[in-house]
Amino acid sequence: MAHLAHDPNKEPDGRTTLELGAVLPQTAAVNKSGNLCVGGVDLVELARKNGTAAYVMDEDHVRSQLRSYRTAFAQSDIEAEVVFAGKAFLARAMAKLVNGEKCWLDVSSGGELHVALAAGFPAENIIAHGSNKTPSELVEALAAGVGRIAVDSFEELERVNNLAAERNVVQNIFLRIKPGIVADTHEFIVTGAEDSKFGFGITDGAAKKAVLRAMELANVELKGLHVHIGSQIFSLTSFESTIDVMMKFMAELYDEHGIELEEFDLGGGLGIAYAPEDEPASIEDFVACITTALKEHCKIRGLSLPRLFVEPGRSVVANAGVTLYTVGNIKDLPEIRTYVAIDGGMTDNIRTALYDAHYEAVVANKANEPRDCVVTLAGKHCESGDVVAIDTSLQTPEVGDVVCVLGTGAYCYTMASNYNKQVRPAVYFVRDGSERLVVRRETYDDLLNCDIF
Ligand code: LLP
Repeated sequence: MAHLAHDPNKEPDGRTTLELGAVLPQTAAVNKSGNLCVGGVDLVELARKNGTAAYVMDEDHVRSQLRSYRTAFAQSDIEAEVVFAGKAFLARAMAKLVNGEKCWLDVSSGGELHVALAAGFPAENIIAHGSNKTPSELVEALAAGVGRIAVDSFEELERVNNLAAERNVVQNIFLRIKPGIVADTHEFIVTGAEDSKFGFGITDGAAKKAVLRAMELANVELKGLHVHIGSQIFSLTSFESTIDVMMKFMAELYDEHGIELEEFDLGGGLGIAYAPEDEPASIEDFVACITTALKEHCKIRGLSLPRLFVEPGRSVVANAGVTLYTVGNIKDLPEIRTYVAIDGGMTDNIRTALYDAHYEAVVANKANEPRDCVVTLAGKHCESGDVVAIDTSLQTPEVGDVVCVLGTGAYCYTMASNYNKQVRPAVYFVRDGSERLVVRRETYDDLLNCDIF
């Protein structure tokens, strides 16, 4: 849980909104009224017209991130697929956008698969993930004809093969491998370490056993190996080490068993700027780094270059998204802190409470003013850990102001809950001066939808 440690000496940073740089959506601007605009839409007007809390996504920003990945790969002469990780943000409009940008989609549950298919997403460009897919999720994936199932355990390998045999099909699969790399990020989002529930370990021999077993099975076709070492990773060295470990393993498979796999999926994980001081690698540097490493390792080990897949989530959508709230009350506790109460909180953004995540905020209707005070943005829910930003710089807030929290495009909407029977906010896509409602705000009646009485 977020520790509410307060730094009484913290000074406001004095920045105006546009001085927050890479934390902002790419189309952020301030209009003549001093209001923050994204995609040419005045966020204060949007908030006052449609109500808050609300998520807003800069559609051009999302497209530009996906294009940056694709362009960088096109320049690398490695055949690559950019697979957007739906767990970061998924709605039908998003699935449609991803397909329009010629990218694939990674789904991590039957529910995500359902949303993707409902948007008309081509099943052959979907990778089905999950560390314990239920038999019915596997049936759904097979029935849809997904492009790859990333198999996570020996039990699942047999299940996929049996279910594919029943349908008389051969399913393309990846095997999820644990490379034993500890990425430099929050321990809850590290996934590639030895002590991890995900995938097959290399050092304990499980990965090799799984590859050999997959080669024996008639109704699965092992296309390649998949790894995902974690999320919000700043150091490109973690990715290079992963490629090193994986190519060594691929070479072993070739030398010992003559097996050469065509594909390699490096997962997601590239970090983003939540604070103006953060300096994540650019998409271009990330792609240059991994493609160079892949080429070198293949050359050294005498392997052909595999078709490469990457699965970015956060780096595509996080900075594209913001959350709008209205200030309801302000409690100035002398010598302690100032709480600014917003009409949302841990139900629409659990990341601060869960990971101690850092968020920047601005008053959207005072966007040109310097952030001249330090406050804690508190949610409306029934616990003290319900905070979105602790000791954050903000323009002097007043009741009724529209507060805009930045960098909330990834893992906020998708991790939202109905705690306290809070209705989940709407999602708007903004572009070229107009907003488009892509997920409507829930109603009280939605809260009764599944309630049998
Ligand atoms: N591929 C796989 C198999 C994954 O498990 C993930 C994320 C991704 C791709 C996308 O990773 P990204 O590029 O977004 O880092 N809820 C946490 C993040 C959990 C990420 C889990 N897997 C958070 O809010 O920080």
